[in-house]
Amino acid sequence: MNMPVWAVANQKGGVGKTTTAAALAGLLADGSARTLLVDMDPHGSLTTYLGFDAEAAGPGVYELFRARVGDAAAADDDTLIRQTAIDRLWLMPSSPAMATLDRQLGVRAGMGLVLADALQPLHSRFDRVVIDCPPMLGVLMINTLVACERLIIPTQTEFLALGGLQRMLRSLAMVERSRGVPIPYRIVPTLFDSRTRASQTCLDSLRADYPGTISTVVVPTDTQVREASRAGLPVASWPAARRAGEAYRALLRELLAWEQSLAQAGAA
Ligand SMILES: Nc1ncnc2c1ncn2[C@@H]1O[C@H](COP(=O)(O)OP(=O)(O)O)[C@@H](O)[C@H]1O
Ligand SMILES: [Mg+2]
Repeated sequence: MNMPVWAVANQKGGVGKTTTAAALAGLLADGSARTLLVDMDPHGSLTTYLGFDAEAAGPGVYELFRARVGDAAAADDDTLIRQTAIDRLWLMPSSPAMATLDRQLGVRAGMGLVLADALQPLHSRFDRVVIDCPPMLGVLMINTLVACERLIIPTQTEFLALGGLQRMLRSLAMVERSRGVPIPYRIVPTLFDSRTRASQTCLDSLRADYPGTISTVVVPTDTQVREASRAGLPVASWPAARRAGEAYRALLRELLAWEQSLAQAGAA
């Protein structure tokens, strides 16, 4: 498959989406894939994580959408994409103005295809794309689901977080109906705390309720994850975050094997 596009999404905040997107993209880049991260969240956590000022990161996702409505000149890809401090890792940054896109564009026809169309000409420049998503359903989330081939849904192992997963799966089903193709997804349990009974009970019920779509890998709570983000490094590049780093390495292996099995099933 040419330039596979993965999205990381969940309709709840604080479940580890941005951490997961950065961790997987960092590992892909480390494994020599030219990787593009797209920050679709107006909060810009990923943009900040990678060392850019989200208030002043320059042209990015917002300008891409503005150009598409014809209110601004189309910027060429180079101005929308920044090289990060990490080898082979690039970013299309977010900006707070993206929060106004729903109001500006929500009802215009064709607005769900902006990101998919923008990624089309990038096949020669990148081997992989990872998209980080906002927690709410809107034009940005729809664009992400339309543009992606695979979806990764980090889900906090905490009962209050299960509603976000259910909302996410409903939105996914809606987009699948209009795209007319299924979007294979993987639920990834995150922020797992083995010392608490609630975490274990929640993991057990996730496994019972979503058999076959939940990853075997569980990302543990690791206080060093916050330190890695403070240092602007993907989790697996921050040696102190050993537990979470190992989990993300195992998760990437599992996701790549899954991707390969889907490709084989598709070719068969
Ligand atoms: N495995 C983990 N262990 C400890 N803290 C984590 C872990 N994953 C994420 N975090 C922290 O939890 C917070 C929310 O994570 P984040 O990835 O920003 O979630 P989201 O993008 O879903 O809002 C951040 O402060 C992040 O550093
Ligand atoms: Mg986030």
